[in-house]
Amino acid sequence: MKEIYYPSRELSRQARIKNMCEYNDLMEWAKEDYEGFWDHWAKEKLEWIEPYGKVLDESNAPFYKWFVGGKLNITEQCIDRHIDKRKNKAAIIFEGDRGDKQIITYLELYRNVNRFANLLRNEFGVKKGDRVVLYMPMIPEAAYAMLACARIGAIHSVVFGGFSAEALRDRIIDAQAKVVITADGAYRKGAPYMLKPTVDTALEEGCDSVEKVLVVQRNNEDVVWIGGRDYSYNELIENQPDVCEPEVMDSEDPLFLLYTSGSTGKPKGVQHSQAGYILWAQMTMEWVFDVKENDTFWCTADIGWITGHTYIVYGPLAAGATTVMFEGVPTYPDAGRAWKMVEEYKINQFYTAPTAIRVLHKLGEHEPEKYDLSSLRILGTVGEPIDPPAWKWYYDVVGGGRCSIVDTWWQTETGGHMISPLPGATPVKPACATFPLPGIMAEVLERDGTPVATGEQGLLCITKPWPSMIRTIWGDPERFKKSYFGDVVKDGKAVYFSGDGAVVDEDGYITIIGRVDDVINVSGHRLGTAEIESAIKKHPHVAEVAVVGKPDPIKGESIFAYIVLKDDVADSLGEEVELSKEINDVIAREIGNIAKADAIVVVPGLPKTRSGKTMRRILRAIAKGEPITQDISTLEDPSIVEKIEEAVRCAG
Ligand code: WTA
Repeated sequence: MKEIYYPSRELSRQARIKNMCEYNDLMEWAKEDYEGFWDHWAKEKLEWIEPYGKVLDESNAPFYKWFVGGKLNITEQCIDRHIDKRKNKAAIIFEGDRGDKQIITYLELYRNVNRFANLLRNEFGVKKGDRVVLYMPMIPEAAYAMLACARIGAIHSVVFGGFSAEALRDRIIDAQAKVVITADGAYRKGAPYMLKPTVDTALEEGCDSVEKVLVVQRNNEDVVWIGGRDYSYNELIENQPDVCEPEVMDSEDPLFLLYTSGSTGKPKGVQHSQAGYILWAQMTMEWVFDVKENDTFWCTADIGWITGHTYIVYGPLAAGATTVMFEGVPTYPDAGRAWKMVEEYKINQFYTAPTAIRVLHKLGEHEPEKYDLSSLRILGTVGEPIDPPAWKWYYDVVGGGRCSIVDTWWQTETGGHMISPLPGATPVKPACATFPLPGIMAEVLERDGTPVATGEQGLLCITKPWPSMIRTIWGDPERFKKSYFGDVVKDGKAVYFSGDGAVVDEDGYITIIGRVDDVINVSGHRLGTAEIESAIKKHPHVAEVAVVGKPDPIKGESIFAYIVLKDDVADSLGEEVELSKEINDVIAREIGNIAKADAIVVVPGLPKTRSGKTMRRILRAIAKGEPITQDISTLEDPSIVEKIEEAVRCAG
């Protein structure tokens, strides 16, 4: 049995949920009266312009509707309602890569967002329902842009700044965006880097929907300006009025799209709603991070990912907290950067990915001891399974054995945390996400909907709809149904299947194993094998390709690609190093550097069944160097397995 860590008495005393009895009571309430439970919180927490009727409409499952007919504008939840009590409180603390700092109060945030919203509405003609793509660095203007869209009812779609022009273009076209907001560039590791040129390339083809590009000048490097299309934010913002009437939005109007990878095909535009999303963003800030009036909260994610949406922008602001935004990387100029910031801003909650913890541990095991980290109360992790050694270091050295660690499991599709310890209540086992949050019906099931046996791996499902859930895949409702409600049926009803495997132990604790589909998780970044394969296929010498994830001590998983060359080049090619480089260049061009492969091995063929399906499990085992336990007799050519093993040995 694993060790158990209890929350300190001090943490429990002040926490919103103070012990497991309170947790159980909340869970019981939700089980007995699901709608009543959510009705209570939606009334208590949200500012409504007009009240809703039905709490949950399941008539067109799985297209669930929450708080039906209610009207609100979530920027009032995040900004306006704080003005009375918190106008001079820091809403955002920004630290630039090179150490420049900015504090934005709630009143300033109100003005900046309203002016931005007026710019979009009045200068660019952006209306309710229009799509706006953001390709932005981590600067306050990125948050203003998201909130400005929400203010006028436009749907934002943030594309992570590490994605390539091709990837950006696909997302712009899929969303049929009217406006793109970007920056000239920003700074990383002390040097300027560029974003605008990538937007220019993306817009070269097929982006006819885009009318205007708004460019925030951050690093003031030279960029090309296209007359009539490109506009300077810094110039246009000057004359905008400070007040912008919020658009009245329906609970179920889309708030944003965020593209994420699935097992098959192109990335999908996960569509989130207004009321349900903001409710859970705020509630999880309060329950999981136990954020208090005077707290300073730092989530190190990028706003290009869901973690940045929910826990840098929407959640902290809805909760009236102070959120830290950091442009740089925690290892520059040295591995003490993050700890220095914790000391300087007296950060109370620090939220990051296991990869970052492993890197900081490796580069500076004792670095945290050089700083005063006594302000820290809660440490969070997200994005991938954390391993016990990383957990222990985080707990002992960063948290000084005083802090609660919340290992939060959730997804782009879930909008906010689903399974996580509660910092003042849950006795924690290291590297374990523990229990579903109150109101969340997460279960580990077999395909037929029966609970998995204790200690066995099963499918992590959520068996009841929840307010912040994905509403649909933009433009593809059938794919939405098929992707999430096709695999597991419980009591005759299709339930949400996450794509993750998990194990429940004898005490009911849930441990997440990771994806059981063809999604790879590299440094907490979600990538689809299908996307990477279709990128690699663009290399003219590649006939066939299969990509798998290989366990990696730092990144969690790394990308391992098996390549079959076209007949005419197969013999003449001895230059595998050159080929690997070229293939990685193709990946960088099609997707971005984050999807580059760590290993690229040329093989004579792929292990295929007689029906032509590639047996990835075999390829995963070979990449790991594990013996093949699968029955290979069903392969069209069983002898291929040995040849692939040989090729990997030679390459290795
Ligand atoms: C993985 C990130 C283990 C999981 C919020 C999930 C985790 C995917 C954890 C979603 C965790 C997230 N422990 N694995 N605490 N949190 N994951 O959409 O495989 O970028 O399906 O959302 O990350 O990644 P996404």
